[in-house]
Amino acid sequence: MHNKTNKLSITKKSAWSLILAAKYFKSKSPDEISKIHIEKSINKKILKYEYDIQKKVIIDSNFEIDDYGHSLFKMYLPLIFNNQKNYVIAHLAQTLDGLIATKSGESKYISSKENLFHIHALRAISDIIIVGYKTVQFDNPMLTTRLVKGENPMRIIIDKDNKLSKKYNVFSNEDDKGYKIISDKLKSRNTNIFQLPLVNNQFDEKDIISLMTKLNKSIIFIEGGGMTISKFYQENLINKLYLCISPIILGEGISSFILPEKQSLSEIKQHEITYSIMGTDILCDINLI
Ligand SMILES: NC(=O)c1ccc[n+]([C@@H]2O[C@H](COP(=O)([O-])OP(=O)(O)OC[C@H]3O[C@@H](n4cnc5c(N)ncnc54)[C@H](OP(=O)(O)O)[C@@H]3O)[C@@H](O)[C@H]2O)c1
Repeated sequence: MHNKTNKLSITKKSAWSLILAAKYFKSKSPDEISKIHIEKSINKKILKYEYDIQKKVIIDSNFEIDDYGHSLFKMYLPLIFNNQKNYVIAHLAQTLDGLIATKSGESKYISSKENLFHIHALRAISDIIIVGYKTVQFDNPMLTTRLVKGENPMRIIIDKDNKLSKKYNVFSNEDDKGYKIISDKLKSRNTNIFQLPLVNNQFDEKDIISLMTKLNKSIIFIEGGGMTISKFYQENLINKLYLCISPIILGEGISSFILPEKQSLSEIKQHEITYSIMGTDILCDINLI
């Protein structure tokens, strides 16, 4: 159907499919280019758009872009066309008092269903998802893209002592994309295992990123928990940090960030943020590198 501007109208699902088409385009043409043309047949309509990677805007399209479509393209296209070898995205949903879970580890769900959609959309545009072993132990998440169209990426759990059994959803899912990173000192006959050295009983986050490069995984989504994200933050390895702030106060629980104590406020770097309303929450969007 054409509207009065002679452009086609599209549904929310079509807008998302056009973003996935951009992800597919990027996977087939990883070279640095300044503009891209996407063309996709959806519901018997040929939908086309041209995107300027530097300016981060759609220059032309044969369909009308409403506010919803505009917010989707603005959020996800710059992540896909990021021009970095590795692009690390981290996301945490926290309460007003800076907590990501209750003391007993319950976190489903601190944020709104709109934020849950955002998390699944981030999974779908990423090449790999990383979480710490405590997130798997407490939440038993699937870490799939079941709320949006798009392929499940590979999932890697940081589990240095190889404590987690195969029964957890991340590993038992039939797509067989659940992996672990364990210490290189351990012997394991399990499949889907990577091994890295420990320094002071911890992996070096840079080694984890190098492993991602070896696996040809460019967009890396660290989905929690706070401890794991804090370690990547401390090493200055996060490009994009999303903090979703939900209008609840817990009082006690697990903190978003666990970082060494600072002696003075003057030592703390102030971050520039942009923010948007996401359902009942506020999504803070922070470019760290
Ligand atoms: N609201 C949200 O957005 C959100 C998102 C995810 C999870 N959660 C919640 O957060 C809680 C878990 O978070 P968390 O911060 O306690 O734990 P976490 O980040 O899930 O896992 C932390 C563990 O991962 C391992 N790890 C991480 N980086 C490592 C490294 N560089 N080297 C070696 N091991 C490393 C450590 O294991 P070792 O102890 O063996 O050293 C560490 O104890 C759960 O309650 C979950 O429900 C909330």
